[in-house]
Amino acid sequence: MTDGQGVPGVQPALSGSALVAGDPATLVSVLLWGPDAVLPAGRPAYPNKMPGYAFWSDEDVAAVLTHARVAFGRHSTSIAPAEVAGVRARRRP
Ligand code: HEM
Repeated sequence: MTDGQGVPGVQPALSGSALVAGDPATLVSVLLWGPDAVLPAGRPAYPNKMPGYAFWSDEDVAAVLTHARVAFGRHSTSIAPAEVAGVRARRRP
């Protein structure tokens, strides 16, 4: 949802998420390759699997995640396209 509160049982809130406000490389990885490829097994399961967005450009990934961090991850830094490129280059599943 646009307010970042998520939908109970469907998708988690981005507002207040430690992932959104935390380490940029982990957040970029979640968006590029999807949560299943990045997050530990055994976390709460959701019925609608989040896809990866590796087909997006570095600029688009950076813009969406910067928006998420400004809107929902108070005090966290923006993410630059070069940072997305670096994460992408380090890991190709
Ligand atoms: C650009 C679009 C998207 C962004 C930026 C985004 C971002 C995120 C982030 C940061 C998380 C981790 C939250 C946390 O665990 O604290 C997450 C989890 C999740 N997202 Fe997305 N998401 C996007 C699109 C989608 C779509 C299209 C779906 C559904 C079809 C979806 C469904 C989910 C689900 C179910 C989870 C929980 C995953 C798990 O822990 O297994 N997301 N998303």
